[in-house]
Amino acid sequence: MKIHKLALTSALYASASTVSCSQTINVSNEISLGDSIAQFVSGASGLDGPKMDPEINATSFDWWYFDAVSENNSCAVVIVFYMTTDLGFPFVLPLSTLSVDIFATFEDGTLVFLPLNDLPLSAGTAKVVTDGDGSSGIWEGTGFEWKGAPDLSQYVVTIDSPLLGITGTLSLNSVAPAHYPCGSNQADQNLEVSPHVGWANAVPDANAIADFTVLGRKLQFTGPGYHDKNWGDQPFTENVASWYWGHGRLGPYSIVWFDVLALDGSEYVSSYAAVNGSIITASCSGIKVRPMGKNSQYPPVIASGNPQGFHIDLDLGSEGILEVNVTSNVTLADAILYTRWSGTMSGGVKGGIVYTGVALYEEFKFKL
Ligand SMILES: *[C@@H]1O[C@H](CO)[C@@H](O)[C@H](O)[C@H]1NC(C)=O
Ligand SMILES: *[C@@H]1O[C@H](CO)[C@@H](O)[C@H](O)[C@H]1NC(C)=O
Ligand SMILES: *[C@@H]1O[C@H](CO)[C@@H](O)[C@H](O)[C@H]1NC(C)=O
Ligand SMILES: *[C@@H]1O[C@H](CO)[C@@H](O)[C@H](O)[C@H]1NC(C)=O
Ligand SMILES: *[C@@H]1O[C@H](CO)[C@@H](O)[C@H](O)[C@H]1NC(C)=O
Ligand SMILES: *[C@@H]1O[C@H](CO)[C@@H](O)[C@H](O)[C@H]1NC(C)=O
Repeated sequence: MKIHKLALTSALYASASTVSCSQTINVSNEISLGDSIAQFVSGASGLDGPKMDPEINATSFDWWYFDAVSENNSCAVVIVFYMTTDLGFPFVLPLSTLSVDIFATFEDGTLVFLPLNDLPLSAGTAKVVTDGDGSSGIWEGTGFEWKGAPDLSQYVVTIDSPLLGITGTLSLNSVAPAHYPCGSNQADQNLEVSPHVGWANAVPDANAIADFTVLGRKLQFTGPGYHDKNWGDQPFTENVASWYWGHGRLGPYSIVWFDVLALDGSEYVSSYAAVNGSIITASCSGIKVRPMGKNSQYPPVIASGNPQGFHIDLDLGSEGILEVNVTSNVTLADAILYTRWSGTMSGGVKGGIVYTGVALYEEFKFKL
């Protein structure tokens, strides 16, 4: 596994000599030529900051992801800010380097999916400011932006897009500490959740308030929310054959799961559980996620179809193994190679209390 330290360029630290420790990068809607180096070892701060230097070449990617699901799992919103071409990550609009997505799911099951390029005609740029561990970003020309607190306690995503017919905010008040693939938020942590794929989970669980108007319809709910970012220095599909990821709240537990298969069949995992604002486990071992019920072929291939749900065994250390069934209810996005759901969770430590809760989760499958 190749590990690169981030080359700290003067551009990245341009404002470091002025106020506090905030750093600003401006990224134009152009592809950088040459190497774009990934940060795969954590620094003392900047958990949610940009991780490719420079942002971005034709085959690298760096994105910021936000979501929330309603307490009864029927409504959801997912918003993503991308710095990538479709060579880096195949699900963005062709010819874009800067783009955004919103997926809004209404109570009656209606899904609105709207992608938008950072308008080339407006010579759009993206600006990301890193302050402490938090970040704030503006994708100029789209009307999409987010603001994060330096201590990661709060995030607000704001959309004001007359072009898409969307206005509103997603507010996240964190209830679970940030972490990296193999441990808590501290310096010198490994940042690769699987080879060449970086992951930093700024907000593993939050009390979310979604308040949007989408194409004239209100989308308003409260429920668990989440924010993370991924990045990589090689095309996503050159390193990922399939992956299961998700998060949710089960009784007192905030949990996040990752179970990835590389192209050579190697499995990489990350497990996270917190209770009452304290981490019980944050590790790149101690978890197994498998499809459950109908279409539960493992490893999954493109033709497998969508499983009914997932079974998760998550090692809580001295507290035992948390055994969770996740059952899909609403399909929030479906592109065959990629599916996202909301659903219910049921489980607990064997022999203990059985809790229920809601989850938002996804599957990629690229293998024929
Ligand atoms: C980024 O762009 C803003 C104007 O939008 C400018 O004030 C700032 O100096 C630029 N920062 C860097 C690091 O280029
Ligand atoms: C992007 O940068 C990576 C190094 O991090 C390099 O391996 C890759 O070849 C570059 N891509 C292009 C198209 O230059
Ligand atoms: C599934 O979602 C529907 C709305 O699409 C909701 O009415 C129903 O309560 C949900 N069922 C379960 C079991 O969560
Ligand atoms: C589910 O939650 C949404 C948002 O709070 C609400 O509009 C809807 O009425 C709820 N549905 C049920 C079946 O409780
Ligand atoms: C969480 O904290 C509350 C209040 O401090 C306490 O009553 C409760 O037992 C805690 N729950 C767990 C699972 O530790
Ligand atoms: C999880 O699903 C399995 C298989 O259907 C079932 O045997 C088990 O009782 C379920 N556990 C919980 C906690 O729902």
